[in-house]
Amino acid sequence: MKPIQVGLLGIGVVGTGTFNVLRRNQSEIERRAGRGIEITMVADLDVARARASVGPDITVVSDARAVIANPDIDIVIELIGGYGIAKTLVLEAIAAGKHVVTANKALLAVHGTEIFAAASAKGVMVAFEAAVAGGIPIIKALREGLTANRIDWIAGIINGTTNFILSEMRSKGLDFEVVLKEAQRLGYAEADPTFDIEGVDAAHKATIMSAIAFGIPVQFDKAYVEGITKLSSQDIKYAEQLGYRIKLLGIAKRRPEGIELRVHPSLVPSKRLIANVEGAMNAVMVQGDAVGTTLYYGKGAGSEPTASAVIADLVDITRLHTADAAQRVPHLAFQPDAMSDLPILPMADVVTSYYLRLRVADQTGVLAKVTGILADAEISIDAVLQREADEVGGADANQTDLIILSHDCAEARMDVALARMQALTTVLQPIVRIRKEELA
Ligand code: HSE
Repeated sequence: MKPIQVGLLGIGVVGTGTFNVLRRNQSEIERRAGRGIEITMVADLDVARARASVGPDITVVSDARAVIANPDIDIVIELIGGYGIAKTLVLEAIAAGKHVVTANKALLAVHGTEIFAAASAKGVMVAFEAAVAGGIPIIKALREGLTANRIDWIAGIINGTTNFILSEMRSKGLDFEVVLKEAQRLGYAEADPTFDIEGVDAAHKATIMSAIAFGIPVQFDKAYVEGITKLSSQDIKYAEQLGYRIKLLGIAKRRPEGIELRVHPSLVPSKRLIANVEGAMNAVMVQGDAVGTTLYYGKGAGSEPTASAVIADLVDITRLHTADAAQRVPHLAFQPDAMSDLPILPMADVVTSYYLRLRVADQTGVLAKVTGILADAEISIDAVLQREADEVGGADANQTDLIILSHDCAEARMDVALARMQALTTVLQPIVRIRKEELA
């Protein structure tokens, strides 16, 4: 049978990896797919660079629309990124009857509903394994491998840049700004790292996973997003003394009233496997009612790890494109007419436990006042750690750090207690609040 023909839009790091792996493993992939898969056309604004990547036998153009208009192309891979031209091109490819493979989490988290509806109407597939956690087949696991389960929660380290930064801060005791510069020097962090360090990239991925896990629409605008820019190495050190590591987690959790969808730094017990995921690696925990807790680990970015996911999608489409569209795996795991309207909960309704650090005057009664406020708010204390004043106060040795771990409570209740604690004259600096997840 004639090989399935693929057009590639954007040949940077991942595109080159896809081209190379597809060539290198050509016969293995064909034996699996039942048919050859060939990239026959590439569009990139930098035609010379694209030509250098793919050699003389492939058609290289600067106009992506020439790929979409080519009737011989069966599948379009979109590796441009962002919400702009990538969205237009994906919708045009769908309208032209092409199947689409994309690694674009931003696009799907924000415009997924529109894109999947257009694809369903046209009877084409939009596959996006590479959009979440790079080479880890987490979309496949959630959508197919765990299909028997009622998923209770997902918690993932789904941004390698921030995990690298947090690992370095912990192991070397360095501050955020110093490690960020090092990450940029090593090429882990982009020149503009905003989406990574502010948690936006992780929230895009968590949003996509929440939709697949719970059968709800993608709703990035309702996700709570907090990055790692305000974390101090001091809090990482105190957390460690209490038996925790701090990770940027993307969390999607089912509650009877709705879904928690949030990205923020979290204390995780050091004994959990996921707490020991270091450097730029990714890991996703999924709790299902039948299977229990599962953990998926691997490279969340990079040329060939991401290509591994892109090509898995190419193989899936090659196997399934002749199947009746109604028999294919639904884009978001659940049948489009069986989606749930369970709301995304506001942050005030989220229930979790907390790490609090208060810089306080080392005076009689301070601890009593603070714990009294927590008791008034019916917030139970799990652990308290107080440093000796001369350890933290330096020359000004009449100050100390008071660290409190709470049991679970609603965020709104904690907000009220925090405002009251902050108003005490003996609380000398803004209180640090970091959420804590036991992931048991
Ligand atoms: N910037 C992402 C990360 C990789 O640092 O994990 C692509 O999703």
